[in-house]
Amino acid sequence: MSAPFLIGEHMTGGYGKGPDILHDCTIAVDRGEIAVIVGPNGAGKSTGMKALFGMLDVRQGSVCLDGEDITALSPQARVVKGMGFVPQTHNIFTSMSVEENLEMGAFIRGDDFQQTMEQVFDLFPILKDKRAQPAGELSGGQRQQVAVGRALMTQPKVLLLDEPTAGVSPIVMDELFDRIIEVARTGLPILMVEQNARQALEIADKGYVLVQGRNAYTGTGKELLADPDVRKSFLGG
Ligand SMILES: Nc1ncnc2c1ncn2[C@@H]1O[C@H](COP(=O)(O)OP(=O)(O)OP(=O)(O)O)[C@@H](O)[C@H]1O
Ligand SMILES: [Mg+2]
Repeated sequence: MSAPFLIGEHMTGGYGKGPDILHDCTIAVDRGEIAVIVGPNGAGKSTGMKALFGMLDVRQGSVCLDGEDITALSPQARVVKGMGFVPQTHNIFTSMSVEENLEMGAFIRGDDFQQTMEQVFDLFPILKDKRAQPAGELSGGQRQQVAVGRALMTQPKVLLLDEPTAGVSPIVMDELFDRIIEVARTGLPILMVEQNARQALEIADKGYVLVQGRNAYTGTGKELLADPDVRKSFLGG
């Protein structure tokens, strides 16, 4: 059995010289999978994502991508290695147009990225209509599409999404989930944090419940949805 495509294993660490936020935390996503992290506010979900992306001081444990230990690499170097990351906040340039945002996403590429931009427009047609408009004028759901589109512009090998459906209506959430599934079906592994725990676990091959920086429950999406303790504590019964 080979190791998962991306795995942060036994990660312990915090911000700067501050206290540990993550404690022996393991998060992974494998080829062809959607993996989902859920848990209460402040549980360390975003911190876990940042640890995988190289934005945290990981004091113990390791991060491996496609079998290579990348624990010491900067976020920029991880993008070059194939990681696409959409942070929870400040994930677009509001004063720049939609098209400029997507171009910014392609900054590490030396080749022609027009075809990738067309693929992003195929996935999110509204962005093509609004490509000349400042991204800050878009709706919440449309901004999230810009953020995901920007990450796709690097042609990543794995995509990390921190709360891609934050602040959108249930209908827009369903649409975004459909697009995320569509992206995953192209063979791109996706690891995402979601506050809509039930809906996210329904589409998850693998799920992680984090509590106070620790793995509380891990299983397939189905297993977690069926677990009485998980249901009672995290899914509203
Ligand atoms: N930049 C930072 N510097 C210091 N501490 C931070 C920083 N960002 C987060 N923390 C702390 O780390 C802990 C976990 O926060 P984190 O943002 O990872 O939680 P979360 O599970 O993503 O929560 P939410 O559901 O609200 O997004 C919190 O106690 C928070 O105060
Ligand atoms: Mg968060």
